Amino acid sequence: MTKKHLLLSTLLLFMAGWSTAYGEDGSQLWLRFNSVNTTAQVTGVKGTAMTELQTYWQGGPVVLKRQKGRARDGYTIKSQGGKTVIAAASDAGLLYGAYHLLRLQQTGEQCERLDISEVPFYDLRILNHWDNPNGTVERGFAGKSIFLNPTPERLKMYARANASVGINGTVLNNVNAKPEALSTASLEKTKAIADQLRPYGIRVYLSINFASPIKVGGLETADPLDKTVVGWWKKKVDEIYRLIPDFGGFLVKANSEGEPGPQDFGRTHADGANMLAGVLKPHKGIVMWRAFVYAPQSPDRANQASLEFMPLDGQFADNVIIQIKNGPVDFQPREPYSPLFTAMQKTQMMVEFQLTQEYLGAANHLVYLAPMWQEFFSFVKPGSLKAMAGVANIGDDTNWCGHHFAQANWYAFGRQAWNPALKPEQIADEWLKQTFSRHGKDNGQETAAANSQFSIFNSQLVKVMMDSREAAVNYMMPLGLHHIFAGTHHYGPEPWYSPKGVRADWTPPYYHRADSVGMGFDRTLTGSANVKQYPEALCRLYNDVNTCPENLLTWFHHVPWDHRMKSGRTFWDELCHKYDEGVHETRRFLAVWDAMQPVVDAERFAAVQRKLRIQVRDAEWWRDACLLYFQTFSHRPIPQDVEHPVHNLDEMMKFHIPIGMYENPESGYNK
Ligand code: GCU
Repeated sequence: MTKKHLLLSTLLLFMAGWSTAYGEDGSQLWLRFNSVNTTAQVTGVKGTAMTELQTYWQGGPVVLKRQKGRARDGYTIKSQGGKTVIAAASDAGLLYGAYHLLRLQQTGEQCERLDISEVPFYDLRILNHWDNPNGTVERGFAGKSIFLNPTPERLKMYARANASVGINGTVLNNVNAKPEALSTASLEKTKAIADQLRPYGIRVYLSINFASPIKVGGLETADPLDKTVVGWWKKKVDEIYRLIPDFGGFLVKANSEGEPGPQDFGRTHADGANMLAGVLKPHKGIVMWRAFVYAPQSPDRANQASLEFMPLDGQFADNVIIQIKNGPVDFQPREPYSPLFTAMQKTQMMVEFQLTQEYLGAANHLVYLAPMWQEFFSFVKPGSLKAMAGVANIGDDTNWCGHHFAQANWYAFGRQAWNPALKPEQIADEWLKQTFSRHGKDNGQETAAANSQFSIFNSQLVKVMMDSREAAVNYMMPLGLHHIFAGTHHYGPEPWYSPKGVRADWTPPYYHRADSVGMGFDRTLTGSANVKQYPEALCRLYNDVNTCPENLLTWFHHVPWDHRMKSGRTFWDELCHKYDEGVHETRRFLAVWDAMQPVVDAERFAAVQRKLRIQVRDAEWWRDACLLYFQTFSHRPIPQDVEHPVHNLDEMMKFHIPIGMYENPESGYNK
């Protein structure tokens, strides 16, 4: 018996007798407070902070104090003369302080000798919902839009969850925006949502369709330099602010993937963004203008955003922020950072992360994303950015995110936007404690034994979460591979997909370029020269196949099959090992989870187990499909010390999941 097995079986024995009869559906997220034993005497400033504490705080007296001169949203929590004093300049600051205190309570920390001072790193911490007016959610894997017919209870829970992690803005609709978003009827609905979110310090924003003056206003043009167009936008914006005085502003996807934009009228992104910024400015609104652009004729999609945006550096108004995806292509399991972040010097920028797992196993795979975001911040200084946006993974599923562990990505996004220096393991640890521990479930009667059982659960699951992103990279796209997904959805592997007539940059061979020599996209100085968009030291590092980090090797190089890797293996053998490592990791995750049955409530245990089983099968599918397909180019054997494929290539090539961009593939690879 290995040490690991011994530990797991000891845990099992130790936990025998622990009741798992109760069930939880995940609807309370990490806010599983118990209001039964609330003892709180809360005095001072009235408002949402007071209500939350009065309902859920189980400690001694709390005083809520307004103090001028503090940073907006910041707060202090101090233990003073037997009381806990929360002080802040704003209601939002008091609320964040209240949630901090409740978090300490839920994670079992001491709350008697507090001396805490917090200021959020970013002023804007914003979720982007890709929700459509008909209730579908683009790349949404957790049901329909929560904004379609929201019940007050559900919206309140959404607001509380966001505020509890410091999220203070939300874009309610898809970046592929329907013009109707600006119709008066739709704005009335937006107002109703804004009114319910306001007490929780959350502002609403809208994605707009750049052609709205034509489509909603009946004008003949949407040229941003046309006076009637500017006048139309001004009137529209005034109408919005009459309804929603604290409206945040617009998010714009323009001249990207077929969406209209200023280039349709011979104008630039700066012309378009500045026109909108001009009409929003008197109301203190902002424009978040996306840099997600690429063109079918581009020889390298990864170059495109810099080509379009660098010439405009310094031309954007001061209430425009350019919103850039973390990588230069599109939310792949691993990408280098988008070089725009270090190249643009005179433009305000914000990063867009994707919480919804469009390219990471949808709501079926356990992939904790905080380590990926931390990796990004190891290249891009948090201080060089203005704000952080996250594409939401939220829908009307009972558990909000489809997978119980996907809730951790929502949680972690808020925590990192508040403080990008927070360690992903700390965030995982506090999320697990709040989400799974039985604090509050036994009316505060937890025993020392139960606590110690839970601490084993916690340390095991923190490790699973921390390892999960690298595992997904390995079983999907190791060593810098990217975008080798199915053509019609982004769930499973189809490295072979390249039907006639489909744009090359929408097919995997454009990215992997496998041939008899090797595999990978040559982005070196003698290739697409993408490396040149990075600062000189990185350019040199990435440009040389011998110094390029191996986890980005085929991103930057067309790597010969026999290229010698640091491990001493050939590139082909290494590729086989990486895929196999990924599969084995998913099996380990499942084994760890299985051993946790005694600690987790029956309902969530079964739901997560079912998902982990799908993940194991999918990982095998990924490994087998990719290795068998790439082997048709490499003509090399799969090494003996690697588990050999269990599927046949021709069968996998015939397998299709009949889903579009709005659904979760319920059972993954089910052949
Ligand atoms: C990806 C995604 C689209 C989305 C787009 C965007 O391409 O597949 O569904 O609209 O990104 O971010 O604009």
